[in-house]
Amino acid sequence: MIEIRSLKKSLGGKPVLDGIDLDVLEGESLVIMGPSGTGKSVLLKHIVGLFDPDEGDLLVDGMSVPRADGHTIREIRSRISYVFQNSALFDSLTVEGNILLGLPEDHCGRPDVDCDKLVLKALEHVNLEPDVLRLLPAELSGGMTKRVALARAVVGHQKYILYDEPTTGLDPLNASKINELIAHLKNEIGSTSVIVTHDVDSAFNLADRIAVLSDGKIRALGTPEELRSSSDPGLQRFLDPTSALAGAV
Ligand SMILES: Nc1ncnc2c1ncn2[C@@H]1O[C@H](COP(=O)(O)OP(=O)(O)O)[C@@H](O)[C@H]1O
Ligand SMILES: [Mg+2]
Repeated sequence: MIEIRSLKKSLGGKPVLDGIDLDVLEGESLVIMGPSGTGKSVLLKHIVGLFDPDEGDLLVDGMSVPRADGHTIREIRSRISYVFQNSALFDSLTVEGNILLGLPEDHCGRPDVDCDKLVLKALEHVNLEPDVLRLLPAELSGGMTKRVALARAVVGHQKYILYDEPTTGLDPLNASKINELIAHLKNEIGSTSVIVTHDVDSAFNLADRIAVLSDGKIRALGTPEELRSSSDPGLQRFLDPTSALAGAV
């Protein structure tokens, strides 16, 4: 379980997160939505200790991320995989090299671990053929790049997967394929997911619960049904995919 407690963070003298309280429950898919520049990526980065909060705390399986020493932060990070907003593949590494980065250091040197098998299984999860392993990121289409990023995220069977805008920049067909894969991965691997997305349709398809972040605070939190039946007109405009305000509270 991930517990976020009264978390505050200012950046460049401007409050970005202004008292966030949020739990991510075991096994759930929690979608975080909110306007651009509202702190969604900053919040995800706090979970893996890439940002330190100014105030408040954040616990992963009971371990405080801001107060973790080097050993504890490695333990926390070993439980989490992170699909960055731009996929963040290493240009100079092949697809295989990029996927192997999803495994803990020294993992492949262990006699009881068959890394080739793990990589092939990860490829299978994201519907890619083994012949892509030799390719470099520059040789991949946008949809394939996202798939490789997903393969890297699942290869180590981490307990938590954080997805930052996994479908941004993809055409609708590839975006819906990636959404299907995220749902499939949840069912196959049983991981707990935090998914940041702008896409209202995919949020409603993927989420067990949705948190709407705006002006540094969680404005709404509930199941898709609960949010749909809310009487808050600002929230309804935000959630209506046909509205020009969709995704912009
Ligand atoms: N490393 C950083 N240094 C200074 N400001 C940052 C940094 N990262 C993000 N910000 C600012 O924090 C705010 C939230 O950014 P971000 O979390 O990336 O938004 P989004 O909700 O679109 O993911 C923005 O105003 C952004 O400019
Ligand atoms: Mg972002």
